[in-house]
Amino acid sequence: MQKILELRNIKKVYNKTSIGLEEINLSFSGGEFVAVIGPSGAGKSTLLRCINRLIQPTSGEVIFIDREVQNASKKELRFIRSQIGMIFQHYNLIDRSSVLENVLLGRLGHMNPIKGLFSLYSNEDKENAIKLLRKIGLDEQIYKRADELSGGQKQRVGICRALIQQPKLMLADEPIASLDPKTSIDVMDALYNNCQDFGITCITNLHQVEVAKKYATRIIGVKKGKVVFDGKPNMLTEDIISMLYEGKEGEAYA
Ligand SMILES: Nc1ncnc2c1ncn2[C@@H]1O[C@H](COP(=O)(O)OP(=O)(O)OP(=O)(O)O)[C@@H](O)[C@H]1O
Ligand SMILES: [Mg+2]
Repeated sequence: MQKILELRNIKKVYNKTSIGLEEINLSFSGGEFVAVIGPSGAGKSTLLRCINRLIQPTSGEVIFIDREVQNASKKELRFIRSQIGMIFQHYNLIDRSSVLENVLLGRLGHMNPIKGLFSLYSNEDKENAIKLLRKIGLDEQIYKRADELSGGQKQRVGICRALIQQPKLMLADEPIASLDPKTSIDVMDALYNNCQDFGITCITNLHQVEVAKKYATRIIGVKKGKVVFDGKPNMLTEDIISMLYEGKEGEAYA
């Protein structure tokens, strides 16, 4: 499989007392569904956000399909980000806008800024947004306001907004942390199935080890800013889980 992303010696120092990441070296191939697990404060969000430069790494290189993210100009970064979808724990929808409008926001990175400013979306974009919403089971919510939806529905809108970018890579930071177990399954199914169907590589941070094992093709364990496990789900033994969550065991199955 084609290599899609490479992190070389990524380090993030927030301040003297707070090191986010130390010497991270990872590479990702097309079609992988990767779960990043580890205790609170391990560096999972920092890792994910260094990839699309929501956080600027202190040193190291991020290579996204032959482009250097860390040195990219504003224009180049806009292009890179248009190819990377992002899903957030708290959905980040615009409450007062409709579901359809929220999904269409995902097209902004691909549009001429003036058209974007006036929300002049093409008919093709609108049709695609409706198709994605139907595929994900939100037929009846298309014209509702975002704040009328349940958490699971909001997150599925968040997934559609990322999918309509037609990204090569999807980043999800704790996409199910605010949801109950049943809704979490619906959202993870939607994320996994769509990434598979559209051939999108996904990297998702997850608190729940069981969920990571169920969906991921590869699991990365992060502890104190370092990668301490990187392998197939069946290689993640109870001993490794105990080492990863040492002193915070409750978090692994919370
Ligand atoms: N803006 C910041 N300023 C200073 N330190 C920070 C900042 N953001 C994160 N950190 C520190 O960096 C480390 C890694 O934080 P990060 O948010 O990446 O962890 P995480 O694994 O995502 O945790 P959680 O599971 O709670 O979301 C922590 O020690 C945290 O306190
Ligand atoms: Mg986090």
